[in-house]
Amino acid sequence: MDLSKLLAERTAYMRASEIRELLKWATADVISFGGGMPDPSTFPLEEIARISSYVLETYGNKALQYGQTEGVPELRDELAKFAASNGIKATADNVIVTVGSQEALELLGRLFLDERSVVVTENPTYIAALQSWRVYRPKLVGIPMDDRGMRTEVLEEQVRKLKAEGARIKFIYTVPTAQNPTGVTMTDDRRRHLLEIAEQNDLLVVEDDPYGYFIFDNISVTRLKALDKSGRVIYLSTASKIFSPGLRLGWVVADQELIRWFALAKQALNLNTPTLNQYLLLEGLRRGVIQRNIPRIVELYRKKRDAMLTALEAYMPKGVSWTKPSGGMFIWVKVPEKIDTKEMLNVAIAKYKVAYVPGHGFHVNEGEGRNTMRLNFTYSSFEQIDVGIKRLADAIREFL
Ligand SMILES: Cc1ncc(COP(=O)(O)O)c(C=O)c1O
Repeated sequence: MDLSKLLAERTAYMRASEIRELLKWATADVISFGGGMPDPSTFPLEEIARISSYVLETYGNKALQYGQTEGVPELRDELAKFAASNGIKATADNVIVTVGSQEALELLGRLFLDERSVVVTENPTYIAALQSWRVYRPKLVGIPMDDRGMRTEVLEEQVRKLKAEGARIKFIYTVPTAQNPTGVTMTDDRRRHLLEIAEQNDLLVVEDDPYGYFIFDNISVTRLKALDKSGRVIYLSTASKIFSPGLRLGWVVADQELIRWFALAKQALNLNTPTLNQYLLLEGLRRGVIQRNIPRIVELYRKKRDAMLTALEAYMPKGVSWTKPSGGMFIWVKVPEKIDTKEMLNVAIAKYKVAYVPGHGFHVNEGEGRNTMRLNFTYSSFEQIDVGIKRLADAIREFL
């Protein structure tokens, strides 16, 4: 059967995720800095086991039944309180529970994007957000970053230009804290500037915040949503890095009218987020399991970040540079221009037994970031970090 005659045109814009491909290599003798996986020792396994029995005994069939599209009401309430503990004012009506933040990204595409839409985003940015949105054919406009986050003076200029051209800018997408892929955190003054620009131009802002819970250094981080005075920030977060990614639980905090739209789009996608998992998260929050887990994760990941930075310093040849993230899970590496990290990957895996994500896919335009790569420092052991970075440095040397 010739499927190509049957598939919808939009499938031409669906691309296989290199990260997913990479996850397959995380086994065997290859040290993978590829996927964005948490250290499994951070999963509160025993407590989740206890909570599971409790939930089934206490909530019974309710936990196994279909549920409201917006989410289990008690969980929405608990998530509003959790948001408040991070400086965000919200009630249960401002919350919708999603199947990971990934679903929220997809819902944003469904709700806001079509061929005449423009999305403004950091460049580079989260690869799977680009993947979700490309099928809706928007124009993606990338704003360069430096070590203080998105360069908001460039954003201001770009928005002005786009507006003058009559562009329909739908939202500004940002991962302001410990960004994926660069690890960079936007400074508070830039955050305020970004919101000013959004305010002046009446734009929505999407703040994607999986990593705001683990900041390793003594820096000030105010969530954009906490600074939002006019309900224009759509805040996304997730239980994936602080509880368990396998449960696939995320949430959106936004104005009630936006939540209603999210619910409408979600109904057609999956009716509701798995009810049982929502009850697990509810109990995880009520018992303080997550709140106690976060400082433990911070401690562990700080040490792992430091181990990777030390190894990079020790082994990398001249001409290689990298970010020094104050949080999150990733370090962003630049190699000399002559190296194409995508081409180098096969050799790195086959000969040197080390994997990473080539940086080009995180970029908005084809051909950008050829000499960049993303390294994850949370999944590998301390020994693997040391050995793996040494291997990676050897691979780079071969290509110099
Ligand atoms: C920036 C960003 N957004 C969204 C996600 C999706 O996370 P999940 O669907 O597991 O909540 C991730 C996962 O790594 C991410 O890094």
